[in-house]
Order: sequence, then structure tokens, then C-alpha cells
Amino acid sequence: MSDLMTQLKETAAYIQSKVNTTAKVGIVLGSGLGNLADVIKVEHAIAYTDIPHFPVSTVKGHGGKLLFGELGGTKVIVMSGRFHFYEGYDATQVVFPIRVMKLLGVETLLLSNAAGAVNANYKVGDLMILKDHISFFTANPLLGKNEEALGTRFPDMSEPYNPELIKKALAIAKANNILVHQGIYTAVTGPTFETHAEYQLIKIVGSDVVGMSTVQETIAAVHCGMKVFAVSVITDMGIREQHNIITHEEVLQAAKDAEPKLTLLFTELAKVV
Ligand code: HPA
Repeated sequence: MSDLMTQLKETAAYIQSKVNTTAKVGIVLGSGLGNLADVIKVEHAIAYTDIPHFPVSTVKGHGGKLLFGELGGTKVIVMSGRFHFYEGYDATQVVFPIRVMKLLGVETLLLSNAAGAVNANYKVGDLMILKDHISFFTANPLLGKNEEALGTRFPDMSEPYNPELIKKALAIAKANNILVHQGIYTAVTGPTFETHAEYQLIKIVGSDVVGMSTVQETIAAVHCGMKVFAVSVITDMGIREQHNIITHEEVLQAAKDAEPKLTLLFTELAKVV
């Protein structure tokens, strides 16, 4: 067995020895979006620092815990805090927890993130469901020797985000009067926010938003056969007329303000996945 598979199995076995999870739904909470954890009926929580082979999150606003419990009556595993490429982890480390979830039996992954909009029709606080992504400005997590036990060498990526889940989310949003866009997320490494010219470039290549997460997790999840749904909270406008300084604090605050909408969407979605 490869080192990676050995580590994944050791980690999954450790977690199962503690919590005995049967959850089929995994959730990743993005920057400033950790409060969804408050509406989860948490049965077990394990700090990342206690999990063998897990990287440790270092960024302000990230909880750094794996939660096991119920959301909307559905058993879930929740990453409260994720690992970012910009923190210095390689892309394989970034997606390690996603693969652990797969080994634990998770079939559906719900991802959230904070993102900057380059679509001028979007506003700070809006939600955008990812219908596609562009991964070319960050590292692909499947670079290197392929792990055949997880998935194929050249995975199809024509439909990374599950259309059925998107349909269900749109229906939930409509029923609850929540405005949601559907658009394209471009992943960058960060940690710098983009220059004017970079936001412009990202717009020109066809994206609606830009962010520093999610896409590596999506690729790893699709590779190992999981269904993926992802949503961005728009925390800043990359394209705007006036002088444009973006701060991490502004991003976290905007995410926090928009969080109730995301909580509702994920809670309702968890009931019907
Ligand atoms: N750019 C990149 N990542 C981000 C942004 C942004 O404007 N906002 C939140 N995450």
C-alpha cells in the first residue's frame, strides 16, 4: 500500500475508534462561516491537532475541529476550518481530510467559501452556487503518482458540481426568498488579494468570483467519486469603480453577515441529499 493510503486508513481508523460515524454527508465551512456549527447537534468533536496525519489550520477565523452530529436530522461530518494552499500545505495535504471523509463513508460533500466577485451584478453578501470552476491558477491536488485505490489517473471534470444538488438548492433558495446566483469560481493560491489587473484577468477568462479554496477539495472529491455542491458567499467586490482596498477583516465580517442564509441553505439541503 502507498504511504498516502496507509495514512488515510490510519486516520479513518482512529476517527472510527472514537466516533463510529455513519454520516454520508460531509460539510466544509469556509472563512467566517463557522457558525453553522452552532445549529449542528454535535455528538462528537475532535480537534485537528488530535487527529493523526491531519495538518493544522493556522488562519484567524478557522476553528480547526472535525464535528460529528446531525444537521436537519441528517448525520453529518463537518470540517470547522479547512486547510489552504497559501498556509504552506501542499495540495495533497489540503485535500487529505476530504479523502478521509470518503474512507469514512461520505458520499456527498457540501463546500462553502468566501469569495470576491468580478461579476458586477453581484453584491457583497450575495450567495453564488458554483456551477463550474477554473483551477488553472492553483495547484491540482492530483499532481504526482495517481492513487488508483481512490480514482482514475485522468478523471473527467465536465460536471464537478452535481446538477441534482444544484436543482435542490435553487428550490430551497426560492422557497425561502434567498437570492442565489449561479456562476463560475476561479481558484487562486492567495494569500494576496488580487491586483486590479488580476481581477480584470479573472473576469475576462469567464469567472464570476475568485477565491483561495474549494477547487482542490472539489477535484479530490470528484476523483474519488463523491457528489459535490459548493456555494460562495460574496465578501468583497474585485471589480468596482472606486479605490479598492480589501482586507481579511472585511471578508470575515461580510461572511458573518451573510451566514444565516448559508446556514439555512445547508440545513435544508442536508435534509434532502
Ligand atoms: N480574492 C481572493 N480570495 C478571496 C477574495 C478575493 O477577493 N475574497 C475572499 N476570498
